[in-house]
Formats: sequence, C-alpha cells, structure tokens
Amino acid sequence: MNDGLKPETQLIQDGPFRDERYGAVIPPLYQNSTFTFDSWDALDAAFEDRSGTPTYSRILNPTVQAAERHLAALAGTEKARLFPSGMGAISAALLHCLRPGDHLITLNNVYGPAANLMGSYLPEKMGIQTTFVDGGDLAEVGAALRPETRVLYLESPNSARFGLQDIEALCALVKPRGVRVLIDNTWATPLFQKPLALGVDLELHSVSKYLSGHSDLVAGVVLGKAELVDAIATREAELLGGKMAPFEAWLLLRSLRTLPARMALHQANGLAVGHFLEAHSGIAEVRHPGLPSHPDHALASRQLSGFSSLFSFTLKTDHLPAIKAFFDSLKLFGRGVSWGGHESLIYSPAISAVKEQPPERLRAMGLAPGLMRVAVGLESPADLTADLAQALEKSQAAIP
Ligand SMILES: Cc1ncc(COP(=O)(O)O)c(C=O)c1O
Repeated sequence: MNDGLKPETQLIQDGPFRDERYGAVIPPLYQNSTFTFDSWDALDAAFEDRSGTPTYSRILNPTVQAAERHLAALAGTEKARLFPSGMGAISAALLHCLRPGDHLITLNNVYGPAANLMGSYLPEKMGIQTTFVDGGDLAEVGAALRPETRVLYLESPNSARFGLQDIEALCALVKPRGVRVLIDNTWATPLFQKPLALGVDLELHSVSKYLSGHSDLVAGVVLGKAELVDAIATREAELLGGKMAPFEAWLLLRSLRTLPARMALHQANGLAVGHFLEAHSGIAEVRHPGLPSHPDHALASRQLSGFSSLFSFTLKTDHLPAIKAFFDSLKLFGRGVSWGGHESLIYSPAISAVKEQPPERLRAMGLAPGLMRVAVGLESPADLTADLAQALEKSQAAIP
C-alpha cells in the first residue's frame, strides 16, 4: 500500500497488487479455492502465517485481500474483513461482541433487517436484551446503560429519517463503561466519515451500495484494529463461513478506483435534487443532512467531510392515489430498494405499511404515507429534476 497518498491516487495505484508477470493494468483475479506448496515445511509455514499466506480461499484469497487492504487504508485503520453481504458483516460483528444474557443498545430508526436481528433474532437465540433509543439524545442513551451493556450499535445518518448521532460524544459516554461501539457507516462511505478516529471500535458497511457503486454485487465489510478484526475473521468468518467470492472482490477493486470521483458527483447531484425539492410547493419536508434545513445539519457539517445522495422527502398530500401518481409517473427513477449505484432509484418505506396502518400510526413511526426515499444517481441533475417536476404535476392533478 502506498502510504501517504491521497485516496484518489491510492485507490488507482494498485501498488503491490500489480501483475508482476505481464504488467497487466488490472491485477489478476485469483478465482481458485485452494493453493499448493512445494513441501511439508512450506505448507506448515503457510498455516503459521494465517493472515499472510493463502492456503484456502475461505480463509484468505489474494484478490479479496487486495480489496480489504484498500478498504482499511481508506478507513484509516489496520484491518478490513470482507463478507458476502452487509448483513453478513453486521451479524458476524454482533455475534463476536456479545455473549448470552448481554444487553445492547441500538436506534429506533436502524436499518430494518439489522433491527430484526438485534430486536428479535439475538434475543430469541442468545437471550440478548435490546433497548431501542433515539440516538440523537445522549441522556436517553446514558439512561439505557446497564451493567451488562456490551454494545452500542449506531447508524449515522440513520435509515428513512437520516437523523445523526454525535459519534465522539457517545463513545466518550459509553466506552468507559466497557461498551463496544459499532457503527454502520454505509451512507457516508469511509471517504466522507471516519468513525474509527472518533472512538468507534468496529465500522461496518454494506459494500453493495456506494463502495461497489454499480448495482452488480452484494457484499459487506468489517473494519477496525487488527486484533479485533482478525479475531472476527478466525471465529465468525471462518467458522460460520461468511466468505466473500474472489470475483466480487475483483469487481469491487474496479469500483474502488472510481469511488472518490463517483462520490463527488453523487454529492453534487444529491444536493441539486434536494434544493429543487425543497423549493417545490408540492413538498412538505426534505430530510438531507447536507441541507441547512436538516435539524442535525450543524453536527453533520462537523462530523462528515461530504454528503452522499440518499435522502428522503415527504409529499404534501396524504391522498394515496396522488402519492401513487407521483411514484408511478417517474421515468428516470427506478422503483425499487437499495441505493448507491450509478442509477437513480425511488422507494417509499411506507409501501407495505400503508396497506396495514392508518395515517396517524405511520406518523408516529415517522413514516408519513407520502415519505419517499430517493437515491440520486450519476445522471444529469437537470434531467432528474425535470422528471420529478412532471411527476409532481401528475400527483397534484390527482388530488381531488
Ligand atoms: C444502511 C444499511 N445497512 C446495511 C444494509 C445491508 O446490506 P446488504 O444488503 O449488503 O446485506 C443495507 C441494505 O440495504 C442498508 O441500507
């Protein structure tokens, strides 16, 4: 790894991973399960050097390791371990840090499947006790602490409402009590937010979003000090089998070379679309941490060095046919889940809930029926805002 270089340079200069034999501009893909050795002693030495010499690809693969080294350098930490999905990384990290009977604290607005893992799976399988808090309220977190609290699990900005947590203040509050702090840093990427430097123990990502950036792979990563990440690698990753495929790591290496350029454009496009929506008469609220109107904007400006392009906004109308008219009239936004790819996407977290819940109950959950989550891609913001404008017009025409 070329230490001291800026991320834009480091991610393009593959350094030690360059193809020695032919000088191929892209490093080779080691698409193999096993590795062979000349002698008993050579194989024995390879087993001794578990995190340096590959013997079997569930344990170590050179292509996966190349991507892990880039990710660790980007996050400014010692070690990265890739997983086959973001949920694979999250579950391995939590299993490592918890024992039966432990207590953990997490957020009301944490990513849904992570909420299910912490709120029902771990309590059912391991007797873990989970408290959900706002996360923006230090006193509430302090009051939730118990002698058996072992983990504080953050996600800043969080899902759907994009509320922030003060990472440094929370680490200072809970770490003296023997609590490990884990954070899902997918929204910001390691480029725009460095939570490990603020005291966090483990930084987690869904690599399926901006890090891969092309909507063509699903992966996850755990980042942190070598001792802790290596322990997760030899226990949860090796024993439970959470192994990243070499081809996906090779695709990820391709994606990482353009991460800084893509994120600069995502940031600019996201803010352009956010400003457009905020000025539109059909919109009640825009929740984008990069906009001064966001309640946590001051904290966001201090804690983040840039903004990605996933945010939410709420249509003024509660009338379902008008909400659907907006959603269905969009031509340039794919209707679907996920985010962080080059294409713009739209999703309403209320899609399933509106069928079951009255508007008052959705509001209590922070989910108005007209709440839209938008992932702004790399298309022209002029085309995207024109598309939103025509869909908003259709929506307004459908209000009785
Ligand atoms: C904030 C956040 N964290 C984690 C995940 C899970 O990642 P994966 O789908 O790669 O398992 C997602 C997926 O949408 C997410 O939005």
